[in-house]
Amino acid sequence: MQAKIIDGKAISAQLKAEAAEDVKQMKENGITPRLAVVLVGDNSASKVYVRNKQRACEEVGIASKTVLMGEETTEAELLQLIDELNQDQSVHGILVQLPLPKQIDEAKIILAIDPKKDVDCFHPLNVGSLFTGGEGFLPCTPAGIIEMIRRSGYEIAGKRCVIIGRSNIVGKPVAMLLMKENGTVTICHSKTKDLPGVCREADILVCATGKRNTVTADMIKEGAVVIDVGMNRDEAGKLCGDVDYAAVSQVAGAITPVPGGVGPMTIAMLMKNCVTAARQQTQA
Ligand code: GUN
Repeated sequence: MQAKIIDGKAISAQLKAEAAEDVKQMKENGITPRLAVVLVGDNSASKVYVRNKQRACEEVGIASKTVLMGEETTEAELLQLIDELNQDQSVHGILVQLPLPKQIDEAKIILAIDPKKDVDCFHPLNVGSLFTGGEGFLPCTPAGIIEMIRRSGYEIAGKRCVIIGRSNIVGKPVAMLLMKENGTVTICHSKTKDLPGVCREADILVCATGKRNTVTADMIKEGAVVIDVGMNRDEAGKLCGDVDYAAVSQVAGAITPVPGGVGPMTIAMLMKNCVTAARQQTQA
């Protein structure tokens, strides 16, 4: 049977509509949430992501301020900008698009962002809070994954959840969130033995390796929910994920497409975090 398609575009539209309603109310109280997006250098994928984030801000009514800096920007210059944005009370959220040019230490930059404005949830204080289950921002892609599973009507509690990829942006935080939802979680990576065997145990399989065809149909338990975080291009230059979509969708119970799956959810959760940040900083 053909898997149900989990429509990230439709679910993210709902989330953005909810955020827009919150923004409308805040504006009535004289508060306009504002996001500063910093793009350093000319990574073409980053440019697309930043444009999509600006567009989402416009849709939701969040004011956005994009700062473009050249490829040769020094770490000191970027730290100076972050300091200014930290001080600027009209800015509630700060997002520095990654990756950064090689002369800049990403960890140092993330550490410089005021944790209250860290809408990406990359600052160690917010990451720590995520690990201890406290309140705070949730990282956008992992939170988007949970939201799309939940809003599609799939239970996480008690389910075997397998994640492929152990990155700080997706693999590790999504493991924390799935655990918080009472899933039983396994994280796999490039050194995992018998990856297909482990994946076949999954009721929920999340793939975030950044490699095409990481997940093939023989790795899927019948009826599993498959979440594809990948964003790659095939030989013809067409966007594709980490999952062999055509074959896997014959076995899985539900699957996220690429494009139109996790990507739009990430941006919708960013909008939600911007609203939360503005609320917390203004008590609006
Ligand atoms: N680069 C790839 N994904 C992300 C993200 O979610 N946030 C930022 N700031 N940079 C990224």
